[in-house]
Amino acid sequence: MCVSTGYVHDDYGNQSIGHPEGPMYYNGIYHLFYQYNPKGAVWGNIVWAHSVSTDMINWKPLDPAIYPSKPFDRYGCWSGSATILPGNRPIILYTGIVDPNNTQVQNYAVPANYSDPYLQKWVKPDNNPLVFPGVGVNGTAFRDPTTAWWGPDGHWRIIVGSRRKHRGMAYLYRSRDFMSWAKAQHPLHSAKTGMWECPDFYPVSMDSENGLETSVMKGNIKHVLKVSLDLTRYEYYTVGTYFHEKDRYVPDNTSVDGLAGLRYDYGNFYASKTFFDASKNRRILWGWANESDTASEDVNKGWAGIQTIPRKVWLDKSGKQLLQWPIEELETLRGKNVHLNNQQLNLGDHVEIKGIAAAQADVEVSFSFASLDNAEPFDPSWADMDAQQVCSHMGSTVTGGLGPFGLLTLASAHLEEYTPVFFRFSRLKTSTWFSCALMLQGMCSSLKKELYKPSFSGFVDVDLTDKKLSLRSLIDHSVVESFGAGGKTCITSRVYPTLAVLGDSHLFAFNNGTETITIEKLNAWSMNNPLMN
Ligand code: FRU
Repeated sequence: MCVSTGYVHDDYGNQSIGHPEGPMYYNGIYHLFYQYNPKGAVWGNIVWAHSVSTDMINWKPLDPAIYPSKPFDRYGCWSGSATILPGNRPIILYTGIVDPNNTQVQNYAVPANYSDPYLQKWVKPDNNPLVFPGVGVNGTAFRDPTTAWWGPDGHWRIIVGSRRKHRGMAYLYRSRDFMSWAKAQHPLHSAKTGMWECPDFYPVSMDSENGLETSVMKGNIKHVLKVSLDLTRYEYYTVGTYFHEKDRYVPDNTSVDGLAGLRYDYGNFYASKTFFDASKNRRILWGWANESDTASEDVNKGWAGIQTIPRKVWLDKSGKQLLQWPIEELETLRGKNVHLNNQQLNLGDHVEIKGIAAAQADVEVSFSFASLDNAEPFDPSWADMDAQQVCSHMGSTVTGGLGPFGLLTLASAHLEEYTPVFFRFSRLKTSTWFSCALMLQGMCSSLKKELYKPSFSGFVDVDLTDKKLSLRSLIDHSVVESFGAGGKTCITSRVYPTLAVLGDSHLFAFNNGTETITIEKLNAWSMNNPLMN
């Protein structure tokens, strides 16, 4: 069995392949740009690398699209977004670094040739920069312009992430012609949370899974504001109302700003971007999962950082949170399939799912149980902890009542290594209230000592009337991306097994709770390799 060794936090220093930038769909092609260091597997020398795809699964790498070459971006081309202007003309807004002190301005770039299907060359005209920090704005904390949206008053709008003392700011800018931008008197929104990086602001439909173009303001809709909090390196979002006449965004009272807020992902997932995919009427979310091994390992392997599998996002029927699901195109990589039906898991059971390549797999499982009576009482000492701390405390091996049950991914044959993804229930004080958390425990993921092996957890706002719960996990050598309860709670983690690799990797379903759990249905597929960079 695995033994805890503690972990070393690598301070998130690596991002040779950094976050997704300016994703867009244009004339039949998906474009993904990303922060990239052409000179090594550590952060620095940032350019926008560029890849294209027709399905967001198989990618063709191109030369970097935007790189430091002008006084307005000499020290780096940081994050930004794409907007498709009327007449089907894409334009990119990005943050340029103008001096060694990291002073930030907002620039634009346009394709050199709109009829090149891959839009390989981008030009940065000399009327850049478009937006300077201006009076009262902290010039070293002023970055990551959003996709623009167009208001009924004929003005474009963007937000730029910033900080004023301890307040995260979403500064709002307006423009008639996309070239001359004026700062609005009030930010679109702000909250006492620390710096807001990579903000994203978009409408979601209240009655359909379909996505909406970013400028949609009418109809039965809500808006989502997402920010990446530099402080915690997690992303938080609120669902709320955009009062466009006043240009104010107000989160609903079911959704709070700050550390207690909703997250896209409760694991290693940062600096994400969404875009509207007009070809399939959906909104797609791209995130970045950096390495959690050491910087010297990254230098050895020659790369660092991955893009997560693109996810479709839409508003849950409750209107209180988003749902996320891997794009359907991922299923084209599914190979050999094994399935299980009606398999009982009693206390202590570990059932191996044999017959697939467990190091590169897609697993979908639905669990059921007869009763909630066995759920353990909520321990008052957990009240001061968040779900993540409770997970580190309780883990997957500590016997519970209802749970822990779930999957052991990337497991070695004798369980020296494994990464459990599981549910655990507890009964809250008022006896009929239950909390359910999805957890991923990193402690046993690798025998290597010098790794950061965090545990992650998020509560799942689940309807328990039918006593069923689903889990999907995408397992890919050093990454496990999981979607609990149909995409209500998601956790991504980077793990580095030493024994549970390639053909020596195993997958198990397990239950360490006294309540018997039934696997109603489990489907697992070996996944084929896509074309990649
Ligand atoms: C997020 C971030 C962005 C910035 C970029 C630079 O991690 O700090 O705010 O634009 O990275 O690479």
